[in-house]
Amino acid sequence: MCGIVGYTGNKPAQEIVIDSLKKLEYRGYDSSGIALHEGEIVFSKKEGPIANLESVLDSSNSKMAIAHTRWATHGVPSDVNSHPHLSNDGKIAVVHNGTIDNYLDIKSSLENEGFNFLSESDTEVIPNLLSKYYEGDLVKAVSKILDEIEGIYTIAAIHVDNPEQIVSVRNETPLVIGLGNEENYVASDIYAILKYTQQIIYPDDHQIVSVSPKDVKVLDQNLNEVKFEVETVEKYTEVAEKGGFEHFMLKEIFEQPKALQDSQTELFVNSPLDNLDLNWKIGSISVVACGTSYHAGLVGKYVIEQLTAIPVSVHYASEFRYAAPVQGVGGLMSSRPLVILISQSGETADTLAAARAAKQQGCHTVAICNVPGSRITREVDGVIITKSGQEIGVAATKTFLTQMQALYALAMHLAFQSGSIDHVMLKNWENELRGIPSKITQLLNSSESIKELVPHISKAKSTFFIGRNINYPLALEGALKLKEISYIHAEGYPAGELKHGPLALLSSDTPVIAIAIQDHTYSKLISNIEEISARSAPVITVAQKGDKQALRVSDHGFELPEVDPVLSPFLVAVFVQLLSYYVAHDLGKSIDKPRNLAKSVTVE
Ligand code: F6R
Repeated sequence: MCGIVGYTGNKPAQEIVIDSLKKLEYRGYDSSGIALHEGEIVFSKKEGPIANLESVLDSSNSKMAIAHTRWATHGVPSDVNSHPHLSNDGKIAVVHNGTIDNYLDIKSSLENEGFNFLSESDTEVIPNLLSKYYEGDLVKAVSKILDEIEGIYTIAAIHVDNPEQIVSVRNETPLVIGLGNEENYVASDIYAILKYTQQIIYPDDHQIVSVSPKDVKVLDQNLNEVKFEVETVEKYTEVAEKGGFEHFMLKEIFEQPKALQDSQTELFVNSPLDNLDLNWKIGSISVVACGTSYHAGLVGKYVIEQLTAIPVSVHYASEFRYAAPVQGVGGLMSSRPLVILISQSGETADTLAAARAAKQQGCHTVAICNVPGSRITREVDGVIITKSGQEIGVAATKTFLTQMQALYALAMHLAFQSGSIDHVMLKNWENELRGIPSKITQLLNSSESIKELVPHISKAKSTFFIGRNINYPLALEGALKLKEISYIHAEGYPAGELKHGPLALLSSDTPVIAIAIQDHTYSKLISNIEEISARSAPVITVAQKGDKQALRVSDHGFELPEVDPVLSPFLVAVFVQLLSYYVAHDLGKSIDKPRNLAKSVTVE
């Protein structure tokens, strides 16, 4: 989704903001643009990759710049709809992430006052509103428009009168200010500026920030200065290279053993779970997330319920935020409910809103997140950080595995605390988890054989993934991975549900990927495979090592390394990721940046 960077300092700004903007490419975008101060406001914007923008840029001595990657919401991707947008007099330039919900009303009243609009973008009302209120002070003008604009936004604006000042403000979408030595940075995503600084300010909603090379001021809407904290964040290893892999997604799939190990050090050595204050008798747990993170939550439900007997409900954040399900679960709140928010980015608009709704209801909130300092980590009561490293591929892979691992660790922690497992069992579980990375390495070493399955899927128009029990969420995740990167329609189903409708869709050109794990539902799943085969649909089964029965009833198969059924989701996940990847590769799709998708969904 959209990205913002800004620089004001003593160096040529264009180079720095373009370099920073490239760090945001992984988020997904359709166009980009830049505004500079060259005595007048100079701007360029281009549809397509940042390279298109670079090809039209002249060299520049400007020491201040704002730049943007756009992911279209209002108006098609085009040069004119791209940011920056300028006021009619050309004196103010604005870049904006988010959406202005009442832009049509503002636009028509500005038109009545004589303003003209060039684009279809909602953002174009902002520079013109600023110009209407500007009386020599851009900060004041920004404070005035905050009462008029409705929506979610991060805005960065510059005015021709001040060649050093960037003014920025946010509402519900991310904004970070990076501090340097006589140079400062503005960004919507910390990754954009970590190369340059680790000294970060996180302004709150509606705080207006005035950034100049030697000075940063944070003001409330009444223009009173407010104190701010500067946090020193960890320097991320920059992920610019694919390290010999053809795609970031494949690289990230192969990084999973390390991501799990690094996260284990965090979980079992740094022990963040001990700081979560989960020491009351928890009556119920709600897990809230979107997409792949939601699927991790579903796996977590099985493990937490199995180990602790605490009932767990799992919700889509986009639904949870508008409902009041927590109080509804058990009637009156007899004990404080725990709400676990899962978001690799920590920025997803729906998950953030759900966290706020849960807090408003008096719930204790814990986030599982891969980005320290991200919005969600700042709003909840407790945080478990996963250590996957930056994930560039739009399709989540390594963050999914580390989210699941965090939920297993949480389940173990709660079970130990409530006395349902003793110290020896706790250590056994920990050892089992520690064994998973090497099993994944074994699987990755045999990944070539997954390619042999590709011809059975890549020509299909529609596919099904089925699983039961703890692997039902993996059927959902397999279907999501396949559809998002290969564009083949795929549905994930609990295997027992097929006969209640979807069997009608099966035929010889509808492959079904069955997850056959030898838990207490195994024999039922084998029967489901036979029902599918009887309808001539080809079945590709992923089974545990040595499971001859599952392979005999299926048309094609893949054997996982030996694994306890309760830990099998880690290996099944890697299998469905690789299968989807190889199918998408065979079809020549844009794997790291699938069409229409963005890495961080910061709008509703
Ligand atoms: C799918 C995928 C998305 C994300 C979802 C939530 O591969 O990446 O479904 O899982 O947008 O994102 P986060 O975890 O950042 O909240």
